[in-house]
Amino acid sequence: MKKILVYLSNESQPDLFDIIVANDSGVDVVIPYGNMTPEDIPAMVHGCIFTRRPEKLQNTAVLIGGTDSEVADEMMLRAAQTFFDEFRVSIMADPNGNSTTAAAAVAKIKEKMKTLEGMNAAVFAGTGPVGERVSVLLAREGVHVVITSRNLKKAEKVCEKIKMKHKKTVYPAQVSTERECVNVLKDADIAVAAGKAGTPLMSKEVWVQCSVRVMADLNAYPPAGIEGVDARDDGREVDGKYLFGAVAIGDLKTKAMRDAIRKMYEEKGVYMDLEKIYEVTWESLAVKKERYEKGDRIK
Ligand SMILES: NC(=O)c1ccc[n+]([C@@H]2O[C@H](COP(=O)([O-])OP(=O)(O)OC[C@H]3O[C@@H](n4cnc5c(N)ncnc54)[C@H](OP(=O)(O)O)[C@@H]3O)[C@@H](O)[C@H]2O)c1
Repeated sequence: MKKILVYLSNESQPDLFDIIVANDSGVDVVIPYGNMTPEDIPAMVHGCIFTRRPEKLQNTAVLIGGTDSEVADEMMLRAAQTFFDEFRVSIMADPNGNSTTAAAAVAKIKEKMKTLEGMNAAVFAGTGPVGERVSVLLAREGVHVVITSRNLKKAEKVCEKIKMKHKKTVYPAQVSTERECVNVLKDADIAVAAGKAGTPLMSKEVWVQCSVRVMADLNAYPPAGIEGVDARDDGREVDGKYLFGAVAIGDLKTKAMRDAIRKMYEEKGVYMDLEKIYEVTWESLAVKKERYEKGDRIK
C-alpha cells in the first residue's frame, strides 16, 4: 500500500521545502493543500481516517506546515481531537521548520557540552517561533533561559506563553543596545541568535570579551546574526568558544525532518510534537556521526 503524506498549510502556496523533504524521506505520494484553517481540519482528518481500513492507516500521515506556528499548533490539536479509537493517523507539525530547527540547534549544543543542566542561556531575538522552541528545549534540559527582544513587553509575552503552553519558566530581557547585549551575555554559558533572517544581533567585539562557552547562529542569510560565526561552523573553537552556524544546524534539521516523516509510518498514530521531534533529532545525530566516523561524508 502506498505511503501517503497529506501536507496541510495555512499559506496559499504549500511550502516547496517541506514537499521536497517529504519526497526525499521516501513517501510515495505527497498531497499538498494550501489555505488551510483549523476549521478545515475535521473534514481533512475524516478524509484520511475513513478511506483505508484501520489496520492500514499506518500508511497515511499528516504533516502540518505553513508560516503561522500558532495556527499550525491549533491545527495539530484539532486533528488529535478528531481522531478516535482505531481511526487515527500519524501527525506532525513543523511550520517554517521551527521545531526541527530548534531541536537540531539544541542537540548540537548539548552534544558539544555533554550536559546542559544548570547552565545559563540567552536566546537573542528569541521571540520568533524558532527562538521560542529553542528556549523550551533548553529549559527542559535544566537551563536557566533568558529570551531577549528589542521590546521588553514582547519578551514578557513570549515567556508567559511558554509558561502556559509548555509549563516552563523562562525570563525576559530587553536587548536593543550593545550595552544591554553585553549585560545579558555576561552571565550566559550558551548564546543562541534566533533573529529574523539577515539581522545582525551581536558584534564579535561584544562576545570575545564574555565567558560564553557555546554560540549558535540560526540565521543563514548574510549578514550573520553573530558576527564571526560562519554558517558552516560545526563546533569550531574560537577564543575558547564553540561556534555553530545555520548551515551545520540546517543539515541536521533536514535529516531529522526526513527521519521524523519516516517514523510516522513505523506505527499508526504517532504524535510528532516538539518533544518527539527532539528525540528523533538525537537519533538522526547519532546516525550522522556514525556515518561520518566511517568516512561517509554524505550528509
Ligand atoms: N538553519 C535552518 O535550517 C533554519 C530553518 C528555519 C529558520 N531558520 C532561521 O532561524 C531564525 C529564526 O526564525 P524565526 O522564524 O523564529 O524568526 P522571525 O520570527 O522572523 O524573527 C525572530 C525575531 O527577530 C527579531 N527581529 C525582527 N526584525 C529585526 C530587526 N530588524 N532587528 C533585530 N531583530 C529583529 C524579532 O524580535 P523582537 O521584535 O522581539 O526584537 C523577531 O521576533 C531566522 O534567521 C531563520 O532564517 C534557520
